[in-house]
Amino acid sequence: MNTQSSERGVWSSKLGFILAGAGSAIGLGNIWRFPTTAGQYGGGAFVAVYLVSIALICLAVMIAELTLGRHTLRNPVGAYNELAPRSSWKYLGLLGVITGWGISSFYSVVAGWTLGYIFKTVTGVFTDLGPAEIESVFVAFTSNPVASIGCHAVFMTLTMLILYGGVKAGIEKWSKILMPVLLVILVLLVIRSVTLEGAAEGLAFYIKPNWGNLTGEGVVAAVGQAFFSLSLGMGTMITYGSYLSKKENLVSSAVWVASLDTLIALLAGFAIMPAIFAFGLDPAKGAGLIFVVLPNVFNKIFLGNLFGTGFFVLLAVAAVTSLISIVEVPAAYFIDEKKMSRKKAVTISGLGAFLVGIPAALSLGSVDSLTNLVQIRGKSQGFLDLMNIIFGQYSLIIGSLGVAVFVGWKWGVAKANAEIAEGHPKYSAQAVFAFFIRFVAPIAVAALLICLILFPDAF
Ligand code: PFF
Repeated sequence: MNTQSSERGVWSSKLGFILAGAGSAIGLGNIWRFPTTAGQYGGGAFVAVYLVSIALICLAVMIAELTLGRHTLRNPVGAYNELAPRSSWKYLGLLGVITGWGISSFYSVVAGWTLGYIFKTVTGVFTDLGPAEIESVFVAFTSNPVASIGCHAVFMTLTMLILYGGVKAGIEKWSKILMPVLLVILVLLVIRSVTLEGAAEGLAFYIKPNWGNLTGEGVVAAVGQAFFSLSLGMGTMITYGSYLSKKENLVSSAVWVASLDTLIALLAGFAIMPAIFAFGLDPAKGAGLIFVVLPNVFNKIFLGNLFGTGFFVLLAVAAVTSLISIVEVPAAYFIDEKKMSRKKAVTISGLGAFLVGIPAALSLGSVDSLTNLVQIRGKSQGFLDLMNIIFGQYSLIIGSLGVAVFVGWKWGVAKANAEIAEGHPKYSAQAVFAFFIRFVAPIAVAALLICLILFPDAF
């Protein structure tokens, strides 16, 4: 029944999928967004909400997305179309495709900064500079239109080149090589950071929940961060699941990807929080945290340039394996639904994201109207911030709610469970999955959205 276009593909092994899936999940979300947001929203309490969301909501949603993808062998729009023909569900898939564009545009801009910072740390630009000078290097770099659009262009080109190779030759091969490198560099950084003098305060901030610090806004940010980090809510895992063979165990694949992703996020926090406190810096600095604060840290530690370079290489590696999975969603849509060649589909998706990313790249000081686009809760937000909030937070929360309702109530858990059982002969957790995907996940997410509408001031 399902005809796979020759432009599609399939993972060569379970390990290949786990590495590619983890490659998608682990990215700027873990290493840049997670510590930054945890620092802004109260440290330990934010981390606790984030971890609870992963266990109670995200795992079930991830299994649901993989199941939808493998059952239909389709991109998100095609998947909903096949299971609920002539219904409005396809718009949920379309929201995913549009969200893919939205996220990839600003994601590539931030990823581009990592390229600039590799160059800066290798050439020792930060050596002997004080905090104020380091901040002005960041501001000068991000507010220079040629530098920021140029790095964005290089990063997007790299991503498109990998995607031209297709699923096995492209995504899987690169993930296999790059993911283990990332883990090694991160562990080295953690060891250095937690052994710094004064690290204990940062560890306490990070590990001990101080519930008084947590706001409603912080709860939404933590739940949104969990979806962002696990690549859920826009169909990435539907698309990746569609390349999984029937022999694979979807539950253990999902548990592996979620565990590796959470491990890397927590490690990133251990690498960054203690160091920030050890050097008396501000954890709530916001989007520039890593780029402004860390060069100070690297400056003050032994072999700082080496650590700094390693860190930004790691960030670039993590970002590229995620960005390919984000751009793959609109690309798979064009391949399946519009019958395009992979080359054309990737070119259109990547170029489209590049163009939308231009205003994002110009919104860090280059163009004032884009830098101070709107006021939200008394804080001026630029184009990039706004894209991050709309697509990186709300779209994913809505998309994940949609997936849970679709699998739990429309397509039905019986069919989902039958698909899961295909690669998992000893599957006995049917009732557990049904309970989480029908009740726990949708009720928790819906309650969050309702609170957001009813009590906006608490958020
Ligand atoms: N999970 C990626 C990260 O943590 O950086 C970002 C991401 C990838 C978000 C894929 C959404 C997505 F569908």
